[in-house]
Amino acid sequence: MEMEKEHRSSHPRLVLVPLPFQGHINPMLQLGSILHSKGFSITVLHTAFNSPIPSNSPEFGFVSVPDNLSEQLISADDLLPFISLLNLNCGVPFQECLAKMVQKQEVENEPSIACIVYDECMYFCDAVAKYVKLPSIVLRTTSASTYLSRNAILQLKAEGVLTSQGTFFSSTNIQGAVASLISALESLFNIFYLGSTSQDLVPGLHPLRFKDLPVSKIGTPEIFLQFITNIYKTRTSSAIIWNTNDILEQPSLQEIQKQCQVGIFPVGPLHEVAPASSSSLIKEDNSCITWLEKQKQNTVLYVSLGSVASVDKKELGEMAWGLANSKQPFLWVIRPGSVDDQEWKKLLTEGFVEAVGENGCIVRWAPQKEMLAHGAVGGFWTHCGWNSTLESISKGVPMICKPCFGDQRVNARHVSQVWRIGIQLENMCERGEVERAIKRLMVDKEGKEMRQRAKNLKERIQLDIREGGSSYNYLNKLIELIMSF
Ligand code: UDX
Repeated sequence: MEMEKEHRSSHPRLVLVPLPFQGHINPMLQLGSILHSKGFSITVLHTAFNSPIPSNSPEFGFVSVPDNLSEQLISADDLLPFISLLNLNCGVPFQECLAKMVQKQEVENEPSIACIVYDECMYFCDAVAKYVKLPSIVLRTTSASTYLSRNAILQLKAEGVLTSQGTFFSSTNIQGAVASLISALESLFNIFYLGSTSQDLVPGLHPLRFKDLPVSKIGTPEIFLQFITNIYKTRTSSAIIWNTNDILEQPSLQEIQKQCQVGIFPVGPLHEVAPASSSSLIKEDNSCITWLEKQKQNTVLYVSLGSVASVDKKELGEMAWGLANSKQPFLWVIRPGSVDDQEWKKLLTEGFVEAVGENGCIVRWAPQKEMLAHGAVGGFWTHCGWNSTLESISKGVPMICKPCFGDQRVNARHVSQVWRIGIQLENMCERGEVERAIKRLMVDKEGKEMRQRAKNLKERIQLDIREGGSSYNYLNKLIELIMSF
């Protein structure tokens, strides 16, 4: 133990700054575990809000920094203003904390901090790193395709075609020459203001349709555009680490590298490279493992919508009865606060539990990676958060995609159209549609073919993270870069 400590203290230290949400804490701490296994000391600088649980990662140091934020449940509707507030509140206290850490390392001869690795949404860290004169690296936790599609939205704004009000100019120079662009922009306007259903393909972003663009209908387009400008602005960071890889997204990554002045390091999927550990903020209910053990190979549909999305009253009933009517075994994660309590109670009194019997298991929070790795799980009904998508692909599990907001629509489209390992539920959830989708995925030939393609993709990813694979090579190059600081 002492020797281990001594060994580590001779290596540089890295300071990690995650965005305090489950879908961002996970990849950041996984990255920390990988770099720790390569000899670096890791210190996680985090907000008091949604603080990670230090006992889950005893090998890291944790420093909590005041954030002036109240503990509250954040819904998808609150996310953008919350992230903006977080960036406003955290700059000064994080700067003071880091400055003290740097001072202390000089006085007490502690391992020096090589650099700060921060989540793209914690963009205030760029200025903080500059102030304390440390190099910084950005971690992007969403897909490369999401980056390109958000950038396309910024591009339309930069070209002056999309105004601050979300309307577009139709001056003579635009008319005629870019008539098709205007129609595209009409679609964009519809997305912001009317909630687009446009099936038109976005030029240059195959296979995305306008309805798949990761825009937010919350607030004005200006707030959303400001958010993407903030997270994608070229700053002083030395590199970008990306939780994706060449097997999944090489064309997008090549395109991004052309646009970027710094090296990008697609070293994912991080959870596959990292030594197994949990960074769950909610206690995992392991009782579902006992239930899963009793189920036959590839028969169970695992259902989870991640850590932020919620289901409205109508959807909940349709989802529940679609699952029950399919007669397929299912393991359903119903996160606290993600469904309407009254509606849930109503479902119970209407005989949902009796109708399902032993065929269903419902938990508040599951050890998801373990569930997806279990032989009984043959499909995943997911909201297509990027972590869930990567976790499913890495275990060769095909998906039913019901994206809820933001990047999830981009991911769902890639699952169904590019990798062809899933079915996307396009409309409002309706029990008949749910039942049909479950049968298509879990029983029909179509689903078996998707499962086979998912397994092939899993094997290619496994090869990619081993010696000689692109992810593996990028990780080595990343370590060389950090050691050169
Ligand atoms: C958010 C955004 O919604 C998502 O679109 C973005 O890509 C990342 O940030 P979230 O909605 O929580 O994330 O989804 P996801 O990215 O899938 O992350 C959820 C994480 O929670 C996964 O790592 C998953 O394994 C874990 N999880 C989920 C559990 O451990 N147990 C559960 O029961 C459910």
